[in-house]
Amino acid sequence: MTIAFLLNGEKIALSGVSPTATLLDWLRDERGLKGTKEGCNEGDCGACTVMVQDADGAKALNACILFLPQLHGKSVHTVEGLAAPDGTLHPVQQAMIDHHGSQCGFCTPGFACSMATAHLNGETAFDDALAGNLCRCTGYAPIIRAAKAAALEPVPNHIRPDRGFFVPEISTGGPGDSQSPGFHAPQSIDELAELAARLPDATLIAGATDVGLWVTKQLRELGEVIFLNRCEDMQHIEETETHLRIGAGVTMDRVHKLMEAHFPSYAEMIRRYGSTQVRNAATIGGNIANGSPIGDNPPPLIALGAIVHLRYRETHREMPLEEFYIDYGNQDRHPGEIVVAVSIPKQADTLKVYKLSKRFDQDISAVCGAFNITVENGTVSEARIAFGGMAGTPKRARAVEAAIIGKPWSDETLIAAWNAWEEDFTPLSDMRASADYRMSAARNMLSRCLLEDLGAATSVLEVRA
Ligand SMILES: Cc1cc2nc3c(=O)[nH]c(=O)nc-3n(C[C@H](O)[C@H](O)[C@H](O)COP(=O)(O)OP(=O)(O)OC[C@H]3O[C@@H](n4cnc5c(N)ncnc54)[C@H](O)[C@@H]3O)c2cc1C
Ligand code: FES
Ligand code: FES
Repeated sequence: MTIAFLLNGEKIALSGVSPTATLLDWLRDERGLKGTKEGCNEGDCGACTVMVQDADGAKALNACILFLPQLHGKSVHTVEGLAAPDGTLHPVQQAMIDHHGSQCGFCTPGFACSMATAHLNGETAFDDALAGNLCRCTGYAPIIRAAKAAALEPVPNHIRPDRGFFVPEISTGGPGDSQSPGFHAPQSIDELAELAARLPDATLIAGATDVGLWVTKQLRELGEVIFLNRCEDMQHIEETETHLRIGAGVTMDRVHKLMEAHFPSYAEMIRRYGSTQVRNAATIGGNIANGSPIGDNPPPLIALGAIVHLRYRETHREMPLEEFYIDYGNQDRHPGEIVVAVSIPKQADTLKVYKLSKRFDQDISAVCGAFNITVENGTVSEARIAFGGMAGTPKRARAVEAAIIGKPWSDETLIAAWNAWEEDFTPLSDMRASADYRMSAARNMLSRCLLEDLGAATSVLEVRA
């Protein structure tokens, strides 16, 4: 296995490294680049943020859950590479000094990398861009002030354009063996389907925002691994007259942009899905395949009537996404079968999605509800309602739907539907929420839908840095 990438402009070619070595460990232990910090080692704090560029642009990523093979063909800037070669600080570094954005300094390299990436991309929604970076001592206002001030300065030449794009073998992702013992990096869905069928026990790794934690937190030896990130044909978004088809390898930041155009409420939920760093790595296919009962994509996708596309060698299967989830930890996916795509039927947008978590930003949902309710002349004509966090799988609220279809869209209907909730759900109590709280929250979400349709203001977004 050879992995080739640029590190702060220097060409790196690695062979013989473990495919599950993280960039963070390699930077600190092998390169002595200690600017990139280890805080949580699970994608939550942003202390390890680096800037990664490829032909698609620049992204902030968490180095602690980024495996070295995921960097092949890319260019990485750590905090050590932000200043110009003559030592002139990057505008975000200077602004952090000028605006007192750092006290103990532990979080500062990660903030600087997130800010420099936002700066390069012309991104000015700083609350969102920096929601994945935690600071325990400075407070966020001076940091946001620094980001705003830096936005007025031009991007330094050494950051853009990246020299990596002028080194053909780097920018095209080659050279680099795509196979060595225990490691596989297929280049297409065809190759992946064949490999996954031949090695049904191998671990598939897409964005590694789940799998990364198996290594860093559970200290698991993954054995044979198949990286999906080089299957470009799995990263397409296709829009036909009838469907939106999203490849399994499409990252959540791209799903976010897609949903802004088609289902804005889904997009607003994704704004709180992990953080910028997590959304830049996480794929929609990984979220569907992992089968988590609190994954945030399945509820809106089920409410929209989405179809999941599976493949085993040359055999293709598809099914409504709600049928994919059989039981806790059990999906209708055979050993060696891969998730290839998900498609959403085109429809008028009546979708509302609510993510309820203890913290507003970057928190796993206690309950995520998705409501696709059509009202004609004051009467509910169609309803597809789905929840995460209410059962052992993402689940449709069929009894509640039946209780409101054909009825006036009113408080009285919701009160009459009260008992239907218990037919649909017996939620659990856990560290995120009690069963009673979950049930109340789910009922309240349906009331919120009605209130919004009646024109009531329900947003709780008054708190801003
Ligand atoms: C800090 C943090 C915050 C998070 N916040 C959220 C959140 O708000 N909401 C949420 O829903 N999730 C969240 N997650 C969980 C995670 O980001 C998502 O589940 C993500 O979409 C997984 O995608 P991935 O590409 O990273 O999957 P990976 O980690 O690469 O893989 C996940 C699983 O899917 C399998 N897999 C991947 N792709 C395929 C495929 N094409 N076919 C078959 N199997 C496949 C893998 O083998 C593995 O079992 C968070 C994670 C972290 C670390
Ligand atoms: S160390 Fe906390 S996100 Fe990586
Ligand atoms: S400056 Fe201390 S954690 Fe941010």
